[in-house]
Formats: sequence, C-alpha cells, structure tokens
Amino acid sequence: MATAIYPGSFDPITLGHVDIITRASHLFERIIMAVAQNANKQALIPLSQRVTLAKKCVGHLSNVEVESFDGLTVDFAKQHSARVIIRGLRAVSDFEYEFMMSQMNKNLDPEMETLFMMAGLEFQFLSSSMVKEVADLGGNISGVVPPVVYEYLTKHPVRPKAKG
Ligand code: COA
Repeated sequence: MATAIYPGSFDPITLGHVDIITRASHLFERIIMAVAQNANKQALIPLSQRVTLAKKCVGHLSNVEVESFDGLTVDFAKQHSARVIIRGLRAVSDFEYEFMMSQMNKNLDPEMETLFMMAGLEFQFLSSSMVKEVADLGGNISGVVPPVVYEYLTKHPVRPKAKG
C-alpha cells in the first residue's frame, strides 16, 4: 500500500479532485497524481498547464507528486511501483464507466487494484466540463475550484471549438 496513483484528465483540477487526493494522502505513503494526455477527450487546457495547476493545488501535501503520462494507466502505475489506482466516485452515474475501467485495468494487470473513494457531498454535482462552461459564460466558479485555477480560467478563457 506504499504508493498509489490518482489518474485523470484534470481539465481543470477542481476542489472535488483536491478533496479526494487530500483524503487519499492520509492513507498512502506516496501518491502520484497522473495527468493524462488522454486521446479520448479533447482537452481544453494544454497538458503542461494542467500539470502546473495541479502541482500548485497539491503543493501543500508533502507525499503527493504530479506527473503527466501518455499511454496506459496500468503501465504508468507499474513504472512507479504502484499497485493501487485511486478514483473518485460521484453520483451513481459514474459507476458503470468506473466499473468497466477498473475491470479492464484488472484484465491488463491482475495485480492492479482500483480503490474508489466517494466524492465529498458538496462536490457530487461538480465536473470539469461544467466548470469550464460556467467560467466561459462569465459565471462565478470561485467556490468550486482552487484560487490558482480560478485565476487561470479568468486569464485564459476556454471556449470549446464550435462544431461543424
Ligand atoms: N469531484 C468533482 N469532479 C470529479 C471528481 C470529484 N471527486 N472525480 C471526477 N470528477 C469529474 C471530472 O471533473 C471529470 O469531468 P468531465 O468529464 O466533465 O471532464 C470527470 O469526472 C471524469 O474525469 P477524470 O476523473 O479526470 O477522469 P477521465 O475520465 O477524464 O480520465 C483516465 C480517465 C485518464 C483515468 C482514463 O481515461 C485512462 O486511464 N486513460 C489512460 C489510457 C488507458 O489506460 N485506457 C484504458 C483504461 S481502462
């Protein structure tokens, strides 16, 4: 149980993510926040910026590191001698996707365990997409993202590209 990884897109990191990693940091000796390049999702914030923001948000947690990765999560975990993948679960809607992902990861590496932590009650409604949409439309997101993310989104409006 020494090292765990906490993978995600973190596009951007929200207070919901910080809540999960803070609670997890009390359970493991070392946690690596793994910021995915993630070909499946069209990220709006460049990978290097997502890493920089995440580092600033968890800098106060002495046993948490932040790294980017491209490729399989299980390979990244193995390279860092981690056998536990931490994932946050919000409402029931997350379950099916998370269940499939954990089974696939188990299939890829039978020694890998996924540990689910319930997102804090106040963050159950939160998603990175919603944060970006509200920020883009001029809404106040200061209550759901760390100050550095608030500042970043204020300075770098992230309007999704129009389709078609
Ligand atoms: N509080 C608030 N929001 C939360 C949250 C919490 N505790 N936990 C997750 N979320 C939100 C995120 O904001 C995000 O919102 P969005 O969909 O609007 O962007 C959503 O839940 C899921 O984001 P995240 O947790 O970052 O996961 P992801 O689905 O973007 O990334 C990876 C999943 C990166 C772990 C997965 O794609 C992966 O492993 N990729 C690497 C390739 C690989 O190994 N593929 C095979 C996997 S079986």
